[in-house]
Amino acid sequence: MQSRATIRRAAVAATAATRRPTQCSAPLLVGAAHSVRRSVAAASVNVFSRVSVRGMATPPVFTKHAEPPKPETIKTSLFFTIKDKVGALDDVLAHIRRLKLSLTRIESRPSKMSGAYDFYIDFEAQNKAQVDNVVDRFRTFVEDVKVITGYESENPGEAANVPWFPRKIADLDTYVDHTITYGAELDADHPGFKDEEYRQRRAEIAAIAQKFRHGEICPRVEYTPTETKTWGVVYNKLMKLYETNACKEHRFIFPLLVQNCGFSENNIPQIDDVSRFVKECTGWTIRPVAGLLSSRDFFNAFAFRVFHNTQYIRHHSEPLYTPEPDVCHEILGHVPLYCDPDFADFAQELGLASLGASDADLEKLSRIYWYTIEFGLLKEGDELKAYGAGLLSSFGELEYCISSPEPKRLPFDPEICANTPFPITKYQEVYFIAESFKDMKERVKTYFEGFNRPFQVRYNPYTQQIEVLDNKDKILKYAHSIQGDMSRLSDALDKILQK
Ligand SMILES: [Fe+2]
Repeated sequence: MQSRATIRRAAVAATAATRRPTQCSAPLLVGAAHSVRRSVAAASVNVFSRVSVRGMATPPVFTKHAEPPKPETIKTSLFFTIKDKVGALDDVLAHIRRLKLSLTRIESRPSKMSGAYDFYIDFEAQNKAQVDNVVDRFRTFVEDVKVITGYESENPGEAANVPWFPRKIADLDTYVDHTITYGAELDADHPGFKDEEYRQRRAEIAAIAQKFRHGEICPRVEYTPTETKTWGVVYNKLMKLYETNACKEHRFIFPLLVQNCGFSENNIPQIDDVSRFVKECTGWTIRPVAGLLSSRDFFNAFAFRVFHNTQYIRHHSEPLYTPEPDVCHEILGHVPLYCDPDFADFAQELGLASLGASDADLEKLSRIYWYTIEFGLLKEGDELKAYGAGLLSSFGELEYCISSPEPKRLPFDPEICANTPFPITKYQEVYFIAESFKDMKERVKTYFEGFNRPFQVRYNPYTQQIEVLDNKDKILKYAHSIQGDMSRLSDALDKILQK
């Protein structure tokens, strides 16, 4: 288990040694909790352990629990806010000690409430009564306590082992309080770290995402001339490479985005315009995010066909480099593929598999995500083409992945991907080549059946809810709901065959 400091040192050292233009957005390791600043910062918070791997554009941040959950316990998460005053953190920790909680994680970050900090803690409760007791005690000294517990099964033994997951699309609104980093928080090696005006601007843009709720129209960001100029440098450089190195799906969709969503070197597309267009193509929607999400939250949203998209842009001093996901990576790298029906279905399979997945299975899923949606290659006749967003937003690696003799190139196999660690601060050592998005979807579906989860799920697009298929009645209901479609399919086939 690595500490945050160890992870950061390693990441910074590796980045310094291998830094290159527009490296896939997120390759950063983000360790445990953010340090709590000022008076609160005085106390040490080494009671958690957390490993986060940030995938280019939008996350994968893998969250690992310090210890596997005990079968007889209820995995519980609490979110609360404390006002920043001398000794505040000590008070919280003292209460936790008195309650004898078995903590597996604690993290904090500045709250959107002025002069306050938000906390997340995970612990293993012995029973529901203990959860209620802890919540009652916390409510006596902190503000705004929210409880997130495991999946509510009819079998309590199963529920204890299954992490909470969203059941309806509006549940994704809870993630606005879950970002691990804020848009205005920069690491010391970020090109904009010492630029106060830039940090302030990022905070303004991140605030839009924090206020956004499902069903609302995402407010437009009035990008400045400097921001638009930065976008233009990236746009023009990548356009030339797309002609030869991007997959045919990306090449097909991109002109449609130019026509319908204002993609151009002089305009940074708006999330609302993009989301409307993507929804018409595949039913996916794009929603803004203020910063980095955990991998669980990020993937869970895929089940609802929702992609979280950052809106701020890299620092103007280095338009060809970003150490994190930004609007260039998201909009140019990710968005076009979500307009392709087969890719869209493939991505949703990852989301469905992530619901209630164990930490170990989530790590496997994160690696599959990394080697496909971020760094995947497709076979096109005798040629190789890129479809991963980490490649499609990195001029250096977009050429390297196709032309360099250095990396290995293997046929896509979910099992091998899931067991292949990946580098996050340098070019990939291995790329996986898919036959097609359809083939990928079938392969991962089969692979995910081996995940350790005591139920199956489906997404109901009419209600925009997740249905947990964990008893005969629910399965029969599901069977009846698709009976009509099967009948129509059979009738359509008969009519074609009779011609
Ligand atoms: Fe990404």
